[in-house]
Amino acid sequence: MLAAANRDPKRFENPDRFDPDRKDNEHLGFYTGIHYCFGAPLARIELHAAVPELFRRVTFSRLLEDPPPYRANAVLRGPRHLPVAIEGLTA
Ligand code: HEM
Repeated sequence: MLAAANRDPKRFENPDRFDPDRKDNEHLGFYTGIHYCFGAPLARIELHAAVPELFRRVTFSRLLEDPPPYRANAVLRGPRHLPVAIEGLTA
């Protein structure tokens, strides 16, 4: 139950708040131990490149389905897809 662990109020202050600058952020998003995500360093590089660029180019976006459809997987829980409307896309 990685998603639940990442929102454990005994471990994280304001666990439901999206806080990309959170200090002491020993989360389980990439799992832990021997099966720790092999692609975690690449995923972090991609996120550091893509997310600021997306925020720079998009002035407004909103969820088209709220909540979005979730995968039927309690262990690796997350949206199956995340349809959003994007406006103000600049080059
Ligand atoms: C934000 C992006 C990503 C997230 C959140 C993520 C998350 C995870 C998690 C939670 C696991 C453990 C799954 C389990 O043991 O049940 C895992 C394993 C793994 N991930 Fe990722 N991953 C991401 C991106 C990537 C990328 C970009 C690659 C490859 C280029 C990758 C390759 C792998 C591999 C090969 C494993 C299996 C490791 C093993 O079992 O020893 N992942 N990942």
